[in-house]
Amino acid sequence: MRETLTQIAHRLIQGEVAAVPTETVYGLAASLRFPKAIDEIFVLKKRPANNPLIIHLAAKEDLFFYSPQANDLPHLDALIQAFWPGPLTLVVPIDISSVPEKVRAGLATAAFRMPAHPLAHALIKLTGPLVMPSANLSGKPSATHPDHVELDFGPDFPVLDGGSCTQGVESTILYFDKTHWKIIRQGAIAAENFLPILGYVPTFELPSDKETPLCPGQMYRHYAPKAKLILTADFSGLSDCVIVGFSDRHYPSERVYYLGSSSDADAVARHLYDVLRQLDKDNVVQACIDVDLPNTGLFRTVLERLHKASCCS
Ligand code: TXA
Ligand code: MG
Repeated sequence: MRETLTQIAHRLIQGEVAAVPTETVYGLAASLRFPKAIDEIFVLKKRPANNPLIIHLAAKEDLFFYSPQANDLPHLDALIQAFWPGPLTLVVPIDISSVPEKVRAGLATAAFRMPAHPLAHALIKLTGPLVMPSANLSGKPSATHPDHVELDFGPDFPVLDGGSCTQGVESTILYFDKTHWKIIRQGAIAAENFLPILGYVPTFELPSDKETPLCPGQMYRHYAPKAKLILTADFSGLSDCVIVGFSDRHYPSERVYYLGSSSDADAVARHLYDVLRQLDKDNVVQACIDVDLPNTGLFRTVLERLHKASCCS
């Protein structure tokens, strides 16, 4: 159910939950001030309690209220100057009394981001900080259009309509680990883009064990449609297959879903979740996905999402 900015702000200020567009994906929003609304997010998404939420801000300075310690982190100011507002999430140590335990899943850190989407920004200015996980059922492809939100949460669920998301994949998450910033979730900002700011390209650290993961959300099968996904670069003999591929390539099958041109990583990222969701809509049981892409830039994020969507761990 599409509602105006004022209606959605009113709901959030009263302690309700609503879906909000950001430049990356739609978020399921609740005010940081309403523990009941935060609980409801976990229930609605069927999200495990050990998977913490990102706090979304409208002012850069607000970060230091929750995290006075952030002042001591090298390059933090430069990162904020370069990428906020935008699709960068920073995980920083916090004053734990300032962030509800549920939001941070009991950790002594919390994740912060300042979205660039004008509607999200205007909304947070009215409501104060919002927690916003992606507006999809846990494990499913994220929502990049109001239709996706309504499909997961029902036609009566309140959505602020911002049309299609411009980035189409989630924010990149950085965490400062002793001496260097590390990427704990690849996202809309490619690792290479941090080189001019940090003087190095941050590495992507997969959680080392399941007890103390760096980014709890990385543990789960994610972004997955119902269809079985087969990742391949060789389409010979696959004339009967449903194929997910690129508009500038030829495939032996008639049933092809296009992600965009293989030379346009931005477009491929933007269309990724919509195409994965389209497979479900069309009741596709199995699809072969063209992964003959360079493992660099935004394609690295796309490939990581496809691997997560296709595997069962
Ligand atoms: O683009 C985005 O980031 C979107 C939009 C709505 O802003 N939000 C989003 O939220 O992707 P979510 O909840 O789907 O993913 C947040 C990720 C999870 O993998 C979670 O484990 C991780 O952030 N995270 C949150 N707090 C953390 C913390 N303190 N330490 C490590 N990872 C954290
Ligand atoms: Mg998510």
